[in-house]
Amino acid sequence: MSPVALKAYVGSDLHEVCRMPQDPWNLPAPEFCEELRRYKLENHPFKVHPFFLEWEKGTLPIEHLRVWAPQFYAWLCVIPRAYALRFAQLPWTDELAKYRGMLLEHLAEEAGYPPEKQQPHPELFLKFCEGIGLSRKQVLSAPWLPGTYLAIDDFLYVNHYEPFYVSAAGSSEPPNVDLCERLLPALRKTYKVPEANLEYYVAHGELDKEHGELVNSIVADFAGEGPGTRRKMWESMLRGFGVHQGLVDSVVASLRGHPHAAKTEPRAR
Ligand SMILES: [Fe+2]
Repeated sequence: MSPVALKAYVGSDLHEVCRMPQDPWNLPAPEFCEELRRYKLENHPFKVHPFFLEWEKGTLPIEHLRVWAPQFYAWLCVIPRAYALRFAQLPWTDELAKYRGMLLEHLAEEAGYPPEKQQPHPELFLKFCEGIGLSRKQVLSAPWLPGTYLAIDDFLYVNHYEPFYVSAAGSSEPPNVDLCERLLPALRKTYKVPEANLEYYVAHGELDKEHGELVNSIVADFAGEGPGTRRKMWESMLRGFGVHQGLVDSVVASLRGHPHAAKTEPRAR
């Protein structure tokens, strides 16, 4: 469908509806990187989804938070596996040697190694769950919602099948810094989560600054390969939006009693 026919069909230009620039991959590499950074920060579900906006304002019922938390935990548990897949996409050449340490360090932090220095990030999130009244057993035994399956599958797919610099372009660390900072005041004041249970959010407000710079620097190093690579990076970012939007939308649908949000049995993580 041509842009003109599309505009007639939806009553508006899809680029305007999505607030998406026209073919940003045709921009020169430095401008593309800037646009990808800006677009991700301004449009990521962590920034714009009503679920997080209500949470930030403290108007989201804590019961809704308790439905969302086990779903997000299921996705968090996949991060170390996904980042191991990302590392596995790194060709073993001298030119790419500098990325080995970067990717391994990021993976080790998420997985909690060395154990005397840090805890696995899913464990930090389980402590947060305790702080909103969910036991470890409740989180681990919660059935996955449909959107959780899709979020996990797509996240693993992209990290397994795309080059590491393409999957890095879809990473959610940059918008997560802002999200953690925005949620903390409501978590303390409205939801009364004890400080000892907030380590996940406090730590990620800092850690993901570093991780965000890491993924942005990887994107900058490879964006000059051409419009084809830049397009894959842009699409990877949109798929990352889909991961988080799909997961939260499924929670919201479940809270509304949506028939497609039928519960399923838990499976091994
Ligand atoms: Fe993390």
